[in-house]
Amino acid sequence: MTASKKTGGLAGVTAGSTALCTVGKEGAGLTYRGYDIYDLADNASFEEVAYLLTHGKLPNPAELAAYIARLKTLRGLPEKLRQVLEMIPANAHPMDVQRTGVSFLGNIEPEGDFSNQVAVADRLLACLPSMLLYWHRFHQDRTRIETETDDDSVAGHFLHLLHDKPPSERHRKCLDTTLILYAEHEFNASTFAGRVITGTLSDMHSAITGAIGALRGPLHGGANEAAMALIEKFSSADEATAGVLGMLARKELIMGFGHRVYTTSDPRNAVNKRMSKMLANEAGDMTLYDVSEAVEKVMWDEKKLFANADFFAASVYHFMGIPTYLFTPIFVCSRITGWTAHVMEQRANNKLIRPAADYIGPGLQKFVPIDERK
Ligand code: COA
Repeated sequence: MTASKKTGGLAGVTAGSTALCTVGKEGAGLTYRGYDIYDLADNASFEEVAYLLTHGKLPNPAELAAYIARLKTLRGLPEKLRQVLEMIPANAHPMDVQRTGVSFLGNIEPEGDFSNQVAVADRLLACLPSMLLYWHRFHQDRTRIETETDDDSVAGHFLHLLHDKPPSERHRKCLDTTLILYAEHEFNASTFAGRVITGTLSDMHSAITGAIGALRGPLHGGANEAAMALIEKFSSADEATAGVLGMLARKELIMGFGHRVYTTSDPRNAVNKRMSKMLANEAGDMTLYDVSEAVEKVMWDEKKLFANADFFAASVYHFMGIPTYLFTPIFVCSRITGWTAHVMEQRANNKLIRPAADYIGPGLQKFVPIDERK
C-alpha cells in the first residue's frame, strides 16, 4: 500500500531496537537506560547523564570526577579548526558552523578504527560548545577566545564562553537541566539519520554531521528558535491569543507544539515551563511567560495540541541572555550524547539500514534517443 500523507514519514513503524531510551512508553514515559527523566532532571547533573548514555551506566563519584576532568582537557581547538571557523561568515547559521566544525574535525582527528569510539564521543561533547562560541565571539566581539575554561560543567563552560564570565549558579543549573532534557529521544529524525549513516560502517564524524543537518530544520530542533520568534512578536497575553487564533485560521503551523509520538503532553515541557516562570520572576518581567501561557492555552483549547520540549526552552534560554540563533546549537551540545550512544549501539549489532519504497512513477517507457526527442 502506498503511504498517504497521514501514514507517511514512517509514523508508527518500528525501525529497530534500542536499550537507550523509551519515549511515551506506557508505564514508563520518557526514560534514559531505564531512569525516569524527572529523576534525572531533579537529581543528576548533565555530565552524569552524558556518562550514563555514552558509557552505559551511571558513574560512581570517582568515575564522575575522572570524566569531568577528562572533558575539561578536551575543550581546546586545534589551530587549523580555528582557522576554518574564522572563515565561516558572520551571517552563517551557527548550526552550519557546528556541522562544518564536526566534519572538519573528522579530517584532522579521524576516528580510525572503531576502538576509539568512546574517546571520539567524549571529544565531541567537550569541544562542540568551544567551536560554536569561538566562531560566535570571533565575529561578534572581534576576539580570539581561549576555549579552555575551568568550569566543571558543560553548561558552565558554555555560558562562560558566551558571556565572558562564569554564570550565576541559577543560570548554570537551568541550562544544565535543559541539556538533560534534550540529551536523548529514541529514533527521532536526527538520531535516525545518524544511525542510517552508521549502518554503512561510516565514521562517527560523518554520522554526527548528518544528524546536525537533520536537527537544523524547524520541524525538529529548529522549533525552539521558531518558537522564540513567535512569542517575541506579542506584547501581551491578549495580543498573543488573538494572533495565534489568526494563525490557526490561516492554517499556519505554530512552532513548539505537537509531536509525532506523544499524544497528550510532552513530559519535558513541565520542567521547562517551571524554569521559564522562575527566570521570568527573576528578571522582573512576566510578559514573555504570560504570552507563552496564552499561546499554550489557545493551542490546547482550539487544537488539543500541547507544548513540546522546544516551546518553553525558548524563553528559558532568552532569560539567560542567550541569542535566539544559538538555541538549536545548544540542542546539539546536548543531543551529541544521545547521537554518539546510538552510533555505538548501532555498531554493536549492525545491519545496513535500507528500507523499500512503494513505486508510484510511470510504467515501463520506450527509450527515445536524444536526436529523435521532440
Ligand atoms: N501547529 C498547528 N497545527 C499543527 C501543529 C502545529 N504545531 N502540529 C500539528 N498540527 C496539525 C497539522 O496541521 C495536522 O492538521 P490536519 O490534520 O488538519 O492536516 C494535524 O495537526 C496532524 O499533524 P501532522 O503534521 O500530520 O503530525 P506529525 O506527526 O507529522 O507532525 C510535528 C509532528 C512535530 C512535525 C508537528 O506537530 C509540527 O510540525 N510541529 C511544529 C514543529 C515543532 O514544534 N517541532 C518540534 C517537535 S519536538
